[in-house]
Amino acid sequence: MSERLIEALGRLEYRGYDSSGVATIFEGELHRRRAEGKLGNLKTRLKEAPLSGTVGIAHTRWATHGAPTECNAHPHFTDGVAVVHNGIIENFSKLKDALAEVGAKFQTDTDTEVIAHLLTKFRRDGMGCLEAMHAMLKCVEGAFALAILFEDDPATIMVARNGPPLVIGHGDGEMFLGSDAIALAPFTNDITYLNDGDWAVVGKTSVQVFDIEGNVVTRPRHISLATADLVGKGNHPHFMEKEIYEQPEVIARALGHYINVNDSHVTTTSTDIDFAGVESLAISACGTAYLAGLIGKYWFERYARLIVEIDVASEFRYREIPLSPRSAALFISQSGETADTLASLRYCKAHGLRIGAVVNTRESTMAREADAIFPILAGPEIGVASTKAFTCQLAVLAALAIGAGKARGTITDDEEQVLVQSLATLPGVMRQVLNDITPEIELLSRELSHYRDVLYLGRGTSFPLAMEGALKLKEVSYIHAEGYAAGELKHGPIALIDENMPVIVIAPHDRFFDKTVSNMQEVAARGGRIILITDETGASMSKLPTMHTIVLPDVAEIIAPMIFSLPLQLLAYHTAVVMGADVDQPRNLAKSVTVE
Ligand code: AGP
Repeated sequence: MSERLIEALGRLEYRGYDSSGVATIFEGELHRRRAEGKLGNLKTRLKEAPLSGTVGIAHTRWATHGAPTECNAHPHFTDGVAVVHNGIIENFSKLKDALAEVGAKFQTDTDTEVIAHLLTKFRRDGMGCLEAMHAMLKCVEGAFALAILFEDDPATIMVARNGPPLVIGHGDGEMFLGSDAIALAPFTNDITYLNDGDWAVVGKTSVQVFDIEGNVVTRPRHISLATADLVGKGNHPHFMEKEIYEQPEVIARALGHYINVNDSHVTTTSTDIDFAGVESLAISACGTAYLAGLIGKYWFERYARLIVEIDVASEFRYREIPLSPRSAALFISQSGETADTLASLRYCKAHGLRIGAVVNTRESTMAREADAIFPILAGPEIGVASTKAFTCQLAVLAALAIGAGKARGTITDDEEQVLVQSLATLPGVMRQVLNDITPEIELLSRELSHYRDVLYLGRGTSFPLAMEGALKLKEVSYIHAEGYAAGELKHGPIALIDENMPVIVIAPHDRFFDKTVSNMQEVAARGGRIILITDETGASMSKLPTMHTIVLPDVAEIIAPMIFSLPLQLLAYHTAVVMGADVDQPRNLAKSVTVE
């Protein structure tokens, strides 16, 4: 039993964690093993003291409340109850005080422990397991995916979901549950997805699902596409490097879903969002996905003449933006599970907007709740730092913006063909660039690794790209980096310029090039050290001395963001490697942030 629990945890490692644990029921008693740090430490613990039993729960924790110590690792125990929890119990302090007043003795600094104490209290008050579960769910507020063992009910596992994903797997004479279908893939792909508010009793061969009111409900079973074969690194030392080099292949696959190369037209991507009838467009996402959306905003405004309202999801729904049901909204998310983005999706849905989800995981919550799914087909992205998902998001957004322009008559057929033909060159140009620039980037990264602060500058779609380059560097190398609109330099950041802070300037030879060269002169005049990322034409025109100039091929404006992403990704990756950072699982980061 514990070996299978550990195998399933191993399939979730890529999501990021800082401790782990497992609990089983054996001969009517709850037993557990926990360990700080990586899963190997828990395996050692289990070798020293194996666990028996046929029913168990396990967990990899990403610390929210309480340090990442063994004591705070899940499962949490109280008398007769074991709990594992993804999410945040927002009213845990109030509950903790109330429980302490009636004698509960807390062992940890976590929010999760209040769930175990509530269940123990309700059981002591005479409730059965089911009643105690329902009573607990009425007390807690916040986001949770829960799995619970009751010592005196060894044949079942109680589960509940509100926010973070939870799936139930139907095996042959056995049942499974996990945070996503990937964890269960070695055991089954016959999956039931719980909705928010659902809770369930999972028995040996069946599951009974209840809604928040306690009514029995039926949830459909799906055949998951998640594959049992673990995604490997191939001959790459890190997933991040593998995924950077996968981009030509996955971009080709993504584009094949959205453009017809033969007649150079955008194929009908989805009838569920008729952009011709759309009054405006809202876009919301987090992190790198947000920056992809920011670039997409430029394209929807320019080619589809749509007003685009965009914000990071954690701000979007609190601004009370005057949304119209005649608008559409796009939510961009690699995982399809990011809590803030999901909450913004639901906010727009409640306001009657048509909802599109640009996601990498078709079975994700966002995909299931959207009116239209726009898959990016990047394949599993394991590295916490998003790379191939970002450029695939851009490719899909470009195709959608061109399609929207065609539907709204704001671009001609010829213009569409030229744009689509440019997109079609992406895989080949990306492959060429990755081959050409890697050696010089490896050298440059050695120099960059000595700095503590880096400024990225860009104009037009290179401005969000500057922010993405900064995000990549800071999240994998821990070097402080900021992305700024080049035109903003004189409004503050120029005060920072000196020889201790390299300035990475993203400047394809587009309509902003000359202005960006002026910004570079301002930097050089103050002793700033410039790393220029430009194209052949730009390199031939800029005579400014630089720390280094990366020269990319001359490309059409519509694909420049995807091409200029490559040196930014490689620079972040190699700098992190030089610095010995944990490239695929940077400290404090999770691959999917399923809590607000
Ligand atoms: C990107 O490199 C980061 N790992 C992070 O910003 C990520 O883009 C963000 O958390 C959004 O994740 P999602 O695309 O799964 O919603």
